[in-house]
Amino acid sequence: MRRIQMTVDGRGHIAEVEPRLLLLHHLRENLGIGGVHWGCNTTNCGACTVLMNGESVKSCTVLAVQADGAEITTVRGIMENGLWHPVQQAFHETHGLQCGYCTPGMIMASVSLLKENPEPSEQEIREALEGNLCRCTGYENIVKAVQMAAPYVRRSEPVAAS
Ligand code: FES
Ligand code: FES
Repeated sequence: MRRIQMTVDGRGHIAEVEPRLLLLHHLRENLGIGGVHWGCNTTNCGACTVLMNGESVKSCTVLAVQADGAEITTVRGIMENGLWHPVQQAFHETHGLQCGYCTPGMIMASVSLLKENPEPSEQEIREALEGNLCRCTGYENIVKAVQMAAPYVRRSEPVAAS
């Protein structure tokens, strides 16, 4: 067993883990963060996407021990001052989700995209999200959600709820 510590959504956690444990399972099973979804376990679906030290990663591709000392952000940790992050609100406004299984990963990948590229084209949005699969929406409303959120993220303003 290895002793690791990480900050998840602003809270510090220390744990003893097996070296082979995936970050995905550490977050879900040891820390009880159900907002990190477990889809394929094989790097295909993107449901498990989180930010690690500000970079988007699929948490099923990272060992928990590799995240020792890291700052992890999940969909639970991006609200600001009690308000939804613009990407969260825009997914709601544009109906960018149906069953919601892909949604936490889609949102985190979108947050990462808008940090790197605050004014992405439609093509750039589609390319940035191609590692995240959705079986429900046909992707159109997900792209609209990112387009809607982008100017609010640039201005650091919340999206007004409809
Ligand atoms: S569970 Fe990680 S990519 Fe599918
Ligand atoms: S909303 Fe169901 S998988 Fe995307």
